[in-house]
Amino acid sequence: MSNEAAEPKPAAEPAVPVAAPVPAAATAVIAPRPNVVEFHQVSKTYGEGPKAYTAIKDVSFVVDDKPDRGEFIAILGPSGCGKSTILRMIAGLTPQFPATTGTVRVFGKPVSSAGPDRGMVFQDYTSFDHLTVVDNIAFGLECRGVALAERREQALAWIARVGLDPAKDAGKFPHQLSGGMRQRVAIARTLILKPRIILMDEPFGALDPGTRYAMQDLLISLWREQQATVFFITHSIEEAVYLGDRVLIMSRAPGTILHQLPLPHPDRPAKEMQREPAFIEEVFRIRDIVDELEDAKA
Ligand SMILES: Nc1ncnc2c1ncn2[C@@H]1O[C@H](COP(=O)(O)OP(=O)(O)O)[C@@H](O)[C@H]1O
Ligand SMILES: [Mg+2]
Repeated sequence: MSNEAAEPKPAAEPAVPVAAPVPAAATAVIAPRPNVVEFHQVSKTYGEGPKAYTAIKDVSFVVDDKPDRGEFIAILGPSGCGKSTILRMIAGLTPQFPATTGTVRVFGKPVSSAGPDRGMVFQDYTSFDHLTVVDNIAFGLECRGVALAERREQALAWIARVGLDPAKDAGKFPHQLSGGMRQRVAIARTLILKPRIILMDEPFGALDPGTRYAMQDLLISLWREQQATVFFITHSIEEAVYLGDRVLIMSRAPGTILHQLPLPHPDRPAKEMQREPAFIEEVFRIRDIVDELEDAKA
């Protein structure tokens, strides 16, 4: 006899009368939220004929929409395994976009081009050399037609938010800044546009360790504020473990996703947390998985 049959059913009085009309607002609330990003069996082959080269093969993953907080996804994998290819496909940037086979969806719709809902930060500093810090940061707003006074005000606020000095740094040109300062400008340029998806391709790869910790802390605090979904490529297992809610570990080319692992949340400053035994243990756990992949292919 099943449990169901043994238990007396409650009186048949549904909480909501079945025939009651559902107000429009209620249907909007219960409508399922589309996934933020979805890859379904995505492959990319560059070139044709004998020169054809398959960079990624059958990549599938889903990032669902977490109300009021985005997910932080770290991507680890050997050079050339297709990490940048995946990021640029999400961004809708050619020639990585479009996929050769499979589908890439963003907020439920197949990606058809770049769009303001996605912002990208690269390793090499992508500011305009001929523009000052404030004009670099305001550039995207200018493209959107925001009036001069308004965009300057917002850009100055962002200079402070990324830890630069509005009075001293606003008028400087990129060549007058250190690598860490230039990456702060690059982050401000992207986040001022409030993208719902932030795509970061080894953004801190060229920074010295001290600056890197400071940038990791900055990124975590800004990300919490913006509630965006972040994709973050790195070669540093420590950085992936510190920043990520989840890590995707890729195989060598043609890249596939071999592991997806959940990670603990950073709740203390990078420099403090990354020297704790529990953190170091987690890094070794991931390092063992990565090393095993390397050995298996050697
Ligand atoms: N536009 C392109 N044309 C031809 N091959 C490319 C192109 N972009 C990337 N590749 C190749 O695809 C592979 C994956 O590249 P990429 O996505 O940049 O890898 P990763 O970011 O993991 O280092 C590499 O072998 C690279 O040379
Ligand atoms: Mg790359």
